[in-house]
Amino acid sequence: MVASTESPFKPDILKGKVALITGGASGIGFEISTQLGKHGASVAVMGRRKQVLQSAVSVLQSLSIPAVGFEGDVRKQEDAARVVDLTFKHFGRIDILVNAAAGNFLAAAEDLSPNGFRTVLDIDSVGTFTMCHEALKYLKKGAPGRNSSSGGLIINISATLHYGASWYQIHVSAAKAAVDSTTRNLALEWGTDYDIRVNGIAPGPIGETPGMSKLAPEEIGSRGRDEMPLYKLGEKWDIAMAALYLASDAGKYINGDTMVVDGGLWLSRPRYLPKEAVRQVSREVEKRSRNEPIGVPKSKL
Ligand code: COA
Repeated sequence: MVASTESPFKPDILKGKVALITGGASGIGFEISTQLGKHGASVAVMGRRKQVLQSAVSVLQSLSIPAVGFEGDVRKQEDAARVVDLTFKHFGRIDILVNAAAGNFLAAAEDLSPNGFRTVLDIDSVGTFTMCHEALKYLKKGAPGRNSSSGGLIINISATLHYGASWYQIHVSAAKAAVDSTTRNLALEWGTDYDIRVNGIAPGPIGETPGMSKLAPEEIGSRGRDEMPLYKLGEKWDIAMAALYLASDAGKYINGDTMVVDGGLWLSRPRYLPKEAVRQVSREVEKRSRNEPIGVPKSKL
């Protein structure tokens, strides 16, 4: 296995590309900013907190990545429009938009106010659409800085919470369901009309992120983990590598997909029978069922 600091991709796969990453100054977003930059992209990061932005940009620049930070809140359309325009003015083109800005906290549905629900939808779902909407004019084929046949790329960071249902996450489950739907619809419309690929990444629990410290705080985390059969933490690097794959030519035929990067965690279910019991009874049951349909006693046939 490759050490997680080493990338298996060539360092120039995104040479000449410009990426704008919302929530790109911290957590998963920052690792995506870093890895896109390390593979040749110039990087604009958008976030609400000036100091966090400044320190992220200094780290990126110390890695020789052309980087700039723009303050803004994805909930405000004027911020989205301003940051997209500034990114274009600064770098002369936009090739990749990564929507990584998200809001989250644990709350039982009955304790969650409609405004709490709305706040997370505003950041995750409406914010994602707003950024896509504002960036379209730079991402579409023939846009300033692009040629007339190839469009750019959008990556929306999602989750797996809404594949089933998730305790205390009604707001984020609803928000990410909308994000996935947005990914597919934009992939259809903008893939067809403008040659823009639109994909998502659905991370599982990723270590050392604001999301993990909010959703599995030390005080309550370990009990929840013990109840999850395949539980293991992913790394921010895992998500950034998925983003690189989608952003590189390796992903050129992928459109409208949300790639699950969770080690198979969302598939896990509690084991309801020991393996040994299955070995012992399964063939016996099979033999019996050949002689009589299951559930119908011989006397009734
Ligand atoms: N439990 C229940 N409700 C909560 C809550 C919690 N832990 N935290 C916030 N809320 C509710 C507030 O009470 C408020 O609703 P109300 O007006 O009916 O009382 C609503 O959510 C908005 O909260 P507010 O603090 O005003 O919003 P904000 O815009 O300052 O912050 C958050 C947005 C709440 C999503 C904040 O957690 C955030 O900024 N998150 C970004 C970072 C992040 O979450 N990263 C992890 C990504 S996985």
